[in-house]
Amino acid sequence: MRLGILGSGSGSNMQAILDAIDAGHLDAEIALVLSDNPDAYILERAKNRAIATGLIDCRGFRSKFPDEAQAETAAALREAGVDLVCLAGFMRLVKQPLLDAFPGRILNIHPSLLPAFPGLEAWKQALEAGVPETGCTVHQVDAGMDTGPTILRAKVPVQPGDTPESLHARIQEQEHRLYPEAIRIFAAGIN
Ligand code: GAR
Repeated sequence: MRLGILGSGSGSNMQAILDAIDAGHLDAEIALVLSDNPDAYILERAKNRAIATGLIDCRGFRSKFPDEAQAETAAALREAGVDLVCLAGFMRLVKQPLLDAFPGRILNIHPSLLPAFPGLEAWKQALEAGVPETGCTVHQVDAGMDTGPTILRAKVPVQPGDTPESLHARIQEQEHRLYPEAIRIFAAGIN
């Protein structure tokens, strides 16, 4: 199973996937890491492991993922022989033509118990809503924002005195366990 990872930030989820591969818990290989952010630490992490990297040129748009950039991303992933695309902290909305290039083969991790709190800074949304628990979800990507069939979810209780940072840190601990496991389950189902 050749994985293509798309990320915009630190890449701790990609690191967790790499660690699971190294530990023999996930039979996969990261073939390519792409980012829309040239300064993203996820690119450093990949380069440190001699994994191929590339930049997604979003033509100066702050949050849009233009069609041309989606087509280029699909071509790069195809060329790298990617079987499964994993969004790992990727902050742009994937649509056609990228969705069409990998039908049913794009996964995302989101820091809430979807369908609750889609969109940005879901941990902050959960705190502001005063819910007793939140968590994280790995799901198949469709054309919606943080919609698509769920593969796995993990719950995280909100504790008294939680700040956005403390809550996000506890959610991330669960993400790092959940994402490799969800990829393993998903890959077993398509092989
Ligand atoms: C993760 O918490 C991930 O769930 C979230 O961004 C963080 C990336 O961390 N993704 C989203 O909010 C997507 N809607 P990482 O770069 O350290 O993996």
